[in-house]
Amino acid sequence: MANIPSGNRDSFTSKFGVIAAAAGSAVGLGNIWRFPLVTTQNGGGAFLLLYFGFIILIGIPVIMSEFSIGRRAQANALGAFKKLAPKTPWFLVGSLGIVTAFAILAFYSTVAGWTLEYLLEALTGRVIHIDDTAQNFAEFSADPVRPVVWQLLVMALTGGIVFAGIQKGIEKFTKILMPLLVILIGLVVIRSVTLPGAGEGVKYLFIPDWSAVNFKTVLMALGQAAFSLSIGMGTLITYGSYIQKENHLLNTASTVAFTDTLIAILASLMVVPAIFAFSAGNIEQMSPGPGLVFEVLPNVFRAMPGGVIFAAVFFFLLFVAALTSTISVLEVVVAYLKEELNMSRGKATLIASVSITVLGVLATLSFGPLAHIKLFGMTIFDILNFSSANIMLTFGALFIVIFVGWKLGKSNFLDEISNKGELQSRLFKVVFFIIRYIAPVAIGIIAVAALFIQGIT
Ligand code: PHE
Repeated sequence: MANIPSGNRDSFTSKFGVIAAAAGSAVGLGNIWRFPLVTTQNGGGAFLLLYFGFIILIGIPVIMSEFSIGRRAQANALGAFKKLAPKTPWFLVGSLGIVTAFAILAFYSTVAGWTLEYLLEALTGRVIHIDDTAQNFAEFSADPVRPVVWQLLVMALTGGIVFAGIQKGIEKFTKILMPLLVILIGLVVIRSVTLPGAGEGVKYLFIPDWSAVNFKTVLMALGQAAFSLSIGMGTLITYGSYIQKENHLLNTASTVAFTDTLIAILASLMVVPAIFAFSAGNIEQMSPGPGLVFEVLPNVFRAMPGGVIFAAVFFFLLFVAALTSTISVLEVVVAYLKEELNMSRGKATLIASVSITVLGVLATLSFGPLAHIKLFGMTIFDILNFSSANIMLTFGALFIVIFVGWKLGKSNFLDEISNKGELQSRLFKVVFFIIRYIAPVAIGIIAVAALFIQGIT
């Protein structure tokens, strides 16, 4: 396949810029809000081990696949498939990515909005005076107005950064926000692990109970790994298209995966032990839901000296983590509209933000006025959350590795990740072997088995 010239596309300017943007996408509500939730719903330590296995065996190879597709094609998630495999149905994988971006950003902006409400409650000091944190969350999330207003603000900020472009928007903001995030998380973790009485939670997190594992657990672990690494929908194809040709993609991919996993562990150490401390060790009685973090952590903050300050820091960092992810999801749709439908960045950003917000408002209202609308027992929010992470991203990742392993092929892939032979590493061939044989079989078995043997809910 001929090498496609890069032209004068926008690009990240530095190695650190690439890592900040990609790790910014990866580290988000997935690590801090979703990870403790699915871990506690799916058997703790055993889930954690599966999760780590998937990060290495599937996560890094899929990141490499997406980066190489994007950088080689110099195009958005859908256009990349059209360029690399013209006149074939492969562009449908890109279309699936665009649809997934809609689904994810819709429910994600709901949760990102909640963080702003709690940030405000922390700043006013109210957060440490809430008696019944579960009821407080239930009342707030069911409100027909407040969560919607916060969501609109989240989408406006996301749109604003994306509108500013790659260098002046995404790279500039993530370069400042990511280091800040790491410092803030460090602060809260130090505070949390020095709280008394949370040892049971740490045990629950790290001692595996294999009896809790079934196909659905395995699917959830894979889905969570994909969600957390931002793989399977073209975010990293899109970002990959902005990576300069000198960049060592394997180093970048590994750094991103490592950072993301480290932060997921730190986040669960902030949250899971606290759940135990406040539910007298009975995790089943908690029946954790999307409000988990918002219900558990105010209790922790109330119990600690200087709790208001830590609460403000925590909800601010949660919001920052969310924002560096929402921009990466929106960019998928914006790059697509801009390049495939020839729109200006401004128009593309406006259309994408507004249409996603419409779906997002429905997700937000499904905690209140629209709570009665259910499919398979799931609300609109639950459906978007479950189906995007566990089904769409899983199948997206499956098609992406099949594309690289069997369509793009070994020589193109190795040419791309070695920067045309300039970089040498034995690992390159190992990564390709995993992409071609191991990842598709592993993802395929899990996805199909979970859907057809186990049923999806
Ligand atoms: N990885 C992000 C998180 O963990 C969510 C995300 C998913 C972002 C898919 C982009 C694409 O919060």
